[in-house]
Amino acid sequence: MKPEELQALKQKALQAAAQAPDLPALNDLRTRLFGRKGELTLLLRQTGSLPPEERPAFGQAVNALKEEVAAALAQAEENLDQAAAARPGRGAEDVTLPGVMPRRGRVHPITQAERLILEVFSRLGFEVVESPEVELDWYCFEALNMPPDHPARDMQDTFYVSSDVVLRTHTSPVQVRTMESQPPPVRIVCPGKAFRRDSDATHSPMFHQVEGLMVEEGISFANLKGVLTTFVHQVFGQDVPVRFRPSFFPFTEPSAEVDIGCVVCKGEGCRVCGHTGWLEILGSGMVDPNVFKAVGYDPDKVTGFAFGMGIERVAMLLWGIDDLRMFYENDLRFLRQF
Ligand code: DAH
Repeated sequence: MKPEELQALKQKALQAAAQAPDLPALNDLRTRLFGRKGELTLLLRQTGSLPPEERPAFGQAVNALKEEVAAALAQAEENLDQAAAARPGRGAEDVTLPGVMPRRGRVHPITQAERLILEVFSRLGFEVVESPEVELDWYCFEALNMPPDHPARDMQDTFYVSSDVVLRTHTSPVQVRTMESQPPPVRIVCPGKAFRRDSDATHSPMFHQVEGLMVEEGISFANLKGVLTTFVHQVFGQDVPVRFRPSFFPFTEPSAEVDIGCVVCKGEGCRVCGHTGWLEILGSGMVDPNVFKAVGYDPDKVTGFAFGMGIERVAMLLWGIDDLRMFYENDLRFLRQF
């Protein structure tokens, strides 16, 4: 056989390998070429009938050809395998099947309420700051005008870590930490956890508060009323009535609790508002001069107001939730509603 004929035979074999439509066709081809009576097998046998001087060259050429064709067959088989794997329903995912939807998580209602509250105060120019949950007595009580014999420190209420370290019972310590570290003006809100030894449908040993503080020259009770009324209107709606009711806190003087018209009965009187038509939502007041003295501010120069609210309470009123414990049980039937 002449070199040109060998060349033609090779081309034919390579082409057939590349065009084999499936694995059975490819196996047939392999038998036709390499089988006992295969074309290439028979070709090699011709070596014996050649003149001795031509045998080595011919044998080498045929062997090279066989190797090349075998490689082409292996490649063709791999191509067919890959094509089969990519075809739907043939050992691969069926991309036409409807998918299984992964369940989406939700932002916890406490977090949603916290974000809403902070957003309103951010728009009013308040900066969001954080403060430690494990706190020194000084920040939690003493500097807030609560001397050692003050009832708020009662062992009944406070978790003590040691005699002068507590789990903060409110977020108010942030007032002291902030004023100690910077001169006025101050305009901050601080969200976070607070802890008290208390547990029932409306109390949890761990709960969340947002504390606020605004201090500079010339701040008056009118500023307090303006900021907190704006807050209520933005969170609960423009038409919700607001009232400021005289109260007492050791760290403010005068102090006021802020009530909103009952969101359930719209002021008619119902079980939720104790038939008063009003719901308390936060405590507030003008910063007591003793607090300014404790942090080194001059009470004759600056004035300010502070406020504190429970985030759980805001969330309960926003969404009509009547048991605080729902927030902590992580019952998905509850959480998925938000
Ligand atoms: N710390 C108070 C509490 O936990 C809430 C509070 C009331 C904060 C009046 C204030 C305030 O800053 O002025 O009940």
